[in-house]
Formats: sequence, structure tokens, C-alpha cells
Amino acid sequence: MRLVVTGGAGFIGSNFVRHVLATHPDDRVVNLDRLTYAGNPANLADVERDARYSFVKGDICDGALVRDVIRDADAVVNFAACSHVDRSLVEPDEFLRTDIFGVHTLLEAVRELKVPRFVQISTDEVYGSVERGSSRETDPLRPTNPYSASKAGGDHLALAYWSTYRVPSLITRSSNNFGPYQYPEKVIPLFITNALEDRPLPLYGDGRNVRDWLYVLDNCAAIDLVLRKGKDGEVYNIGGGHEVENIVLTREILRLTRKPETLIQPVKDRPGHDRRYAVDSRKVHQLGWAPKHPFGRALEATVDWYREHAAWWTPLKSGELRTWYEQQYGAHSGRGETP
Ligand code: NAD
Ligand code: TYD
Repeated sequence: MRLVVTGGAGFIGSNFVRHVLATHPDDRVVNLDRLTYAGNPANLADVERDARYSFVKGDICDGALVRDVIRDADAVVNFAACSHVDRSLVEPDEFLRTDIFGVHTLLEAVRELKVPRFVQISTDEVYGSVERGSSRETDPLRPTNPYSASKAGGDHLALAYWSTYRVPSLITRSSNNFGPYQYPEKVIPLFITNALEDRPLPLYGDGRNVRDWLYVLDNCAAIDLVLRKGKDGEVYNIGGGHEVENIVLTREILRLTRKPETLIQPVKDRPGHDRRYAVDSRKVHQLGWAPKHPFGRALEATVDWYREHAAWWTPLKSGELRTWYEQQYGAHSGRGETP
């Protein structure tokens, strides 16, 4: 298969590119990525010399470039996105541009060039907060912040292009991922690296919000299955099946890093903070997927990875991320010091 992966220099995309090259010897992968703060060529340094892999620096909103890159592709898998809720609260424009207009640009190019498959990587956050039970693929979307609203926009477009033009779109909506190469602004890598540096762990609100954690390699396997076996025009939820309150997760990270609970720093809640996400994943299970990495062992492996890869995350935390926190919270605020 000739695959174009967009956003392949980010967290999930880079794990997916590595997964494809390792499990499908005949596949070729072109990675189109704009290299925003979250895109890092170092995430794929180990496959750079693989003749089956190539990289193009560029924007998914650039229609001419997108057409050039996807011309002979068998499939496009779109990971490119602005992906952090907290950033979407202060700079929503870029979220709307990439997560809606970028998807539209890809869909137009896929339609024109008749690419046989388009997989849109989405999120359980488009369903909004779920107090009880779990979201089915057919449930209405009720996003509550600019990130999830823009992702929902992308999803609606992908399905509209299937209904209207028969553009062969499929969507995956996964729960929260964790694992190697995740930018240390998201809660698990932020808390692990802060703990390793003896810095406070800024826990939002009462710490009782619930996320369903999915190891990134399990998500990659599910996306790969949907790419090869999924049905056009369908949505597939991918849940880790491991719901945890943030406070419990935080204590577990402190236990694994052997740091004291006094590092927990309760801070003001995120505005509009969704209480809980949970998806019903029966459909992707029926396709033949099940998560293979139990949460406890995967979290331990993730802590070990960050412990052993300080050279990867230290420049990120002292550079762009520190500047961002300082702009948002001030150089001398408690949170300004957290990265
Ligand atoms: P990430 O922020 O780590 O990576 C995003 C990548 O997209 C980066 O490499 C960035 O440079 C690239 N990018 C951003 N804008 C671009 C543009 N306009 N053109 C080209 N490239 C661009 O994100 P991630 O955590 O790997 O998430 C990947 C996808 O999975 C996203 O669509 C996200 O919504 C979805 N998702 C993430 C999670 C999670 O827990 N991280 C959970 C569910 C769904
Ligand atoms: P995050 O990793 O940003 O993912 P999302 O908001 O997309 O689910 O946050 C996961 C949970 O952790 C969420 O409930 C917010 C909380 N959180 C904190 O308590 N402190 C933090 O510094 C961050 C980044 C998140």
C-alpha cells in the first residue's frame, strides 16, 4: 500500500508510521507534516533512512501541495491537527484552520484524485462529556471546547463527503492516548516529566475528572485495522477500556517515579472542563481488535521511556512549552514554573 500519513511527526502519527513500516514490509509511507511545535523529526529518527519512508514538510491547508503529495496514494490517513484543549481555549483560530479547513482541503484533493481511502483520525471528545454509560458511533456530537468543536467539524465534513460525493471516508474516534513521544503538555507526559524534575503537578479542579486511557500502540493497531478492513462511510470508536480519575492517575505516576504526593498542586479548573469521556468500542472489536497492553504495565513502560529519554523532552520543556506557559500564566505564577 502507498500511504500518505499527514501529521506523522506528532505523537500518534509517528507511532503509526513506525507501526506500519514494522508490520507491512511492502508498504511505503509519505509523511506530510507542517512541523508545528508538536511536530518533531526526532520522533522518526530511527526510520529516516528506511527507503520506504519519505518526509514532506508542508501544510494540509495547502491544496496544491496536498494534490502533489497524494496523487498516487492508495490511502490518506489524517493525523494532522491542533490537538491540545488548553491551547484551543486561548488560540482557537489555528484549530479551526487545521482541524476543519485542513480536513476540507484533504477531502477535496481525495475527491478530485479519486484516492481509494481516507481515514480521519478523530477523538472521543467530539461526543462531549458523558456522565453515565458510553457513547455509540451514532450518538449526536456535543463538543464543548474549540478543540473538540473543530474536530467535530472535520468529522461532519468527512461524513458529508461520503454521503454527497462517495469520497471513501472512515473515521476513528479514540479515547485519550499515552505512550512514547507524546509532547509534554498533555497530562501524562507533563506529570511524569515534572515529577522527574521535582516540579509541582498542576491538577485541575477537584481532580475527579475521568479519562479512558489507551496505549498508543493499541490505537495504532486499531487504526491500521480500520484502514485495511473498515467500511467506507463508517465511524469506529476506539476505547482503552481503562477509566481513571485524574487524582488516581496522578498518584500512580508519583508512585512509579518514586516522588512524594506533596508535589500535587491543585490549581484552578480548566473552563468548560469535560467531566468524563467513555466510548462503546464494540464495533472495532467486531472488526477484530482488542487492546493488548494492560494499563498498569503500559504506564510503567511510559514512565521508563521518559526517564530514559530526557534528551528528547528537556529541550521541549525549556523552549516552546515554557514560553507558552509564561505567556498564559505569567513568568512567576505557579503554573508558569511547571514545565
Ligand atoms: P500532536 O499534536 O502530537 O501532533 C499533531 C501533528 O500534526 C504534529 O506533527 C504537527 O506538526 C502536525 N500538524 C499540525 N497542523 C498541521 C497542518 N496544518 N499541516 C500539517 N501538519 C500539521 O497530536 P497527536 O496527539 O498525535 O494527535 C494526532 C491526532 O489524533 C489528532 O487528530 C488528534 O485530534 C487525534 N487524537 C489524539 C488523542 C490523544 O490522546 N493524543 C486522542 C484521540 C484523538
Ligand atoms: P489532557 O492530557 O490535556 O487531555 P484532554 O483534556 O484532551 O482529555 O488532560 C487530561 C486530563 O487531565 C483532563 O481531565 C485535564 C487534566 N489535566 C490536569 O489536571 N492538569 C494539567 O496540567 C493538564 C494538562 C491536564
